[in-house]
Amino acid sequence: MAGPVEVGAFAAGRIAEVVSAKPEAVLGVATGSSPLETYRALAARRDAGLDLTRVSAFALDEYVGIAHDHPESYHAVVHREVVEPLGLDASRVRVPDGLADDLDAACEDYEAQIAAAGGVDLQLLGIGANGHIGFNEPTSSLSSRTRVKTLAPRTREDNARFFDSPDDVPMHCLTQGLGTILDARRALLVAQGASKAAAVAAIVEGPVSSMWPGSVLQLHRHATLVIDEAAASELRLAEYYRYTVEHRGTVQPGA
Ligand code: F6R
Repeated sequence: MAGPVEVGAFAAGRIAEVVSAKPEAVLGVATGSSPLETYRALAARRDAGLDLTRVSAFALDEYVGIAHDHPESYHAVVHREVVEPLGLDASRVRVPDGLADDLDAACEDYEAQIAAAGGVDLQLLGIGANGHIGFNEPTSSLSSRTRVKTLAPRTREDNARFFDSPDDVPMHCLTQGLGTILDARRALLVAQGASKAAAVAAIVEGPVSSMWPGSVLQLHRHATLVIDEAAASELRLAEYYRYTVEHRGTVQPGA
């Protein structure tokens, strides 16, 4: 894709297909900058008549220890950037509880809620420069479930832009595990910009490795990456991927 706007438009189209086929679809939603154009494009589709009122949503992660009404808590971010513009029913939207007295129990409960909803139909993902998806930092177990994690120093630095001071970025989070993400029926990862190029190349063309947690998507039956030119710039087989897209739809049955 040429740039972030095209990435968002394409990803929103994929989500719209899922919701049109199943109006009560369960979406997994990401926070951060990467999915913002996708939400914008989806909001435009909603204005054009796409009904999202019966959709349920589960956030990927949440910081530990910041109030739900803190503007950078993922409770607040999901409400501001997803629930309101898309017109979702807030009672069908869940975010892990980073304020729970018993965080392990909150993680187990989150897994149970996802299961009770029938599982995630489509999980939208961004990727960290270090290859994390959700907040599954390098060396996360490839079969991990929702749990408490310590954020990597690089992730805290990257997310400092959302806080008044780098020290305000929480140290811990709750995140769906890589195993939880793999259970989604579809995975859709969006990435834009040169800062993501190394991670994109590693997860697409490198080995499946906990050192690059997003590489676990190589084990998913229906994972799609939607990336712009800058994020694609380190892919060795970029020409081949373009070639397959050009020739998609030209299969001759029986030929
Ligand atoms: C956010 C999340 C993270 C981000 C990643 C990229 O819910 O799970 O994996 O997707 O840190 O962040 P941005 O998009 O801000 O570069």
